[in-house]
Amino acid sequence: MEYCRIAPFALALASCTLLSAAESGAKPAVTFSHDVAPIFYQHCVVCHHPNDIAPMSLVTYKEARPWAEAVREAVAGRKMPPWHADPSVGVFRNDARLSGADIATIEEWAKTGAEEGNPADLPPAPVFHDGWHFQPDVVFTIPPEQVSSAGQDEYEYIYVPTNFTEDKWVQVAEVLPGDRRVVHHATVSVVSADAVPKSEAHREKSAAGGDKYRYTTGKVQHLRPEVPVVDDGCSDPGGGALPGEKQYINRVPAIYLPGHLPEVRPPGYALRIPAGSYLQFQIHYSNRLGRTVTDRTAIGIKFAEEPVTHEVAQYEIWNNMFLIPPGDANHRVTSCFTLPKDVMAVAYTAHMHYRGKSMKTEAIFPDGHHQMLYSVPKYDFHWQETYFLENQFILPKGTKLVTTAYFDNSPNNPLNPDPTKAIRWGEPSGEEMMGFWLAFSDITPGGEHAAGGK
Ligand code: HEC
Repeated sequence: MEYCRIAPFALALASCTLLSAAESGAKPAVTFSHDVAPIFYQHCVVCHHPNDIAPMSLVTYKEARPWAEAVREAVAGRKMPPWHADPSVGVFRNDARLSGADIATIEEWAKTGAEEGNPADLPPAPVFHDGWHFQPDVVFTIPPEQVSSAGQDEYEYIYVPTNFTEDKWVQVAEVLPGDRRVVHHATVSVVSADAVPKSEAHREKSAAGGDKYRYTTGKVQHLRPEVPVVDDGCSDPGGGALPGEKQYINRVPAIYLPGHLPEVRPPGYALRIPAGSYLQFQIHYSNRLGRTVTDRTAIGIKFAEEPVTHEVAQYEIWNNMFLIPPGDANHRVTSCFTLPKDVMAVAYTAHMHYRGKSMKTEAIFPDGHHQMLYSVPKYDFHWQETYFLENQFILPKGTKLVTTAYFDNSPNNPLNPDPTKAIRWGEPSGEEMMGFWLAFSDITPGGEHAAGGK
């Protein structure tokens, strides 16, 4: 028996089909039906099926055949499946990379005429439901939202009641944009019913003039130009956060970012939605279609089936005070955060915009030893994955998390909207962010709630 690796999309597979190519002495020809389809079904078709994010379907032989050479090139060069963490740092349960054997099979297939073989050998094709990449137990959809093209960049906050009468535990969740052309990102957070009016009032106030550090244009925020510049957050008492603002804890069942697949928490680890909570959809719309469209973004949730031993929450650690000079091709920004309690590390996400070039986080333990947690050597705005650890481990109270990012604000960065501008923190993608999010739990099973009183 061969072990079937658990990838998020494996959930959508009815079964994982096993290869038995080398059973007999003679080496049979490599065919689509027998050898290649099982690889595609497990590693590719989650995106490469009709009407999903990839440009072509790889489900049937007829669809896949014209792409044989392109596929060979993409897998040999490890461009596909997309995966941006340095494989020599950390071991991740959602590691999407193909094995050397799978790459060799695909290469052999393409080089020997990309044959179909016997259709009877085909494994059952995975089934996808209404755009979801897993099968949700429950779906919450925002009311129809009119997205005008006037503002181009807008952050909307939309609250949807869960009407849960008891606490619920989220194992898997995915945010599905209603209209991919205008939904730039969407973060769904859990908030209590009484927090809804408070946060709306706060936003109205800041829209009216911003606060000490931020100003607002339309429905987006920017850093005030007079805020002091701190590129090396680790040289700053606040670690790079705005003075007086804490790096905060958030409960995020799922986020939609480009290239992001469902968030699958390890067995026993789940995110709690307390009874009566609301889901806050923070949606960044960017409508360049020249006309108003209607969006209905949704979140799909699968509840934990096994007993939950660890409640998951996340620290969002930022440098919000950097300045990237115009034309600078390699601008370094750091943030530092010292853990206020023992935590169990569960997952990492690196977040920057178009000028993001690389990011990594190193832990400096209280005993002085260092450990690199992850490294994204070639950050790509279009592929913002969350890296779920294969083995959770303890980061003790007092551990310092040092995040180092590089930005490319030069004309040689093809995504750079404007290399002539000095760039500071701002919500529009044309401005920048520098964020490291650590998903964590308490270290003791069933201990105090990770998300604290929030
Ligand atoms: C997470 C989603 C995702 C997965 C998984 C994925 N792809 Fe892709 N693929 C894309 C998207 C989106 C594009 C187009 C944008 C790009 O090239 O980055 C693409 C592009 C490609 C291209 C280039 C097409 C062209 O225009 O030249 C090939 C070939 C390809 N994928 C093959 C594969 C194969 C083979 C696998 C599995 C081994 C795979 N992909 C897995 C999303 C995915």
